[in-house]
Amino acid sequence: MNQDEKKRRVALAALEFVPDDCIVGVGTGSTANFFIDALGERRHRLRGAVASSEASAARLRAVGIPLIDLNDAGELPVYVDGADETTRERCLIKGGGGALTREKIVAAASKVFVCVVDDTKLVAQLGRFPLPVEVIPLARAQVARALEALGGRPVLREGFITDNGNQILDVHGLSIEAPATLETAINQLTGVVTNGLFARRPADIVLMAGDSGVERL
Ligand code: 5RP
Repeated sequence: MNQDEKKRRVALAALEFVPDDCIVGVGTGSTANFFIDALGERRHRLRGAVASSEASAARLRAVGIPLIDLNDAGELPVYVDGADETTRERCLIKGGGGALTREKIVAAASKVFVCVVDDTKLVAQLGRFPLPVEVIPLARAQVARALEALGGRPVLREGFITDNGNQILDVHGLSIEAPATLETAINQLTGVVTNGLFARRPADIVLMAGDSGVERL
């Protein structure tokens, strides 16, 4: 089975976690896109969706799902999103698509975070995928120096501006033995908006598609 087919199947499996008549939180990326397309088929059973990026908002609009501002939505029953890496403990690296800050906000506003991945994303230790860090442009160089002091090799994501008007440093070579501690340490650097570690608030459920079906971690 190819990776796209796994992404499609795991996105479909997440539908069972979406209650009728709710406002659902929706992530960003190719796996989230499969989820949005599947949600579109049952749009009449939803009140609406909160999007974690402008790209997902546009796709939700295209399939006829009403968009709701998070500030008007209250706590969401469920947030469904992909990831770039997951451990069996459900700690994640996210932000390959650059939407990490809004993703972290919507995840924090949700009762249950269902993460949908294919089996290429499972790792024993996070860090093979470069860790995205969203920075205020003025602080980019000083944050990069501090990330080097933490043992990483930050690389500016060229030509990319986030939905919040900021830049992304992709940090290579980090040894992430204690993800929650590192998440906090990086967030403490002045000028960092957020980083792509989801360890302090990991996924509640990871659904992982492989050749033999969808497994729950
Ligand atoms: C976007 C993300 C995505 O969830 C992550 O990059 C995975 O993407 P895909 O489903 O396309 O593999 O964090 O910011």
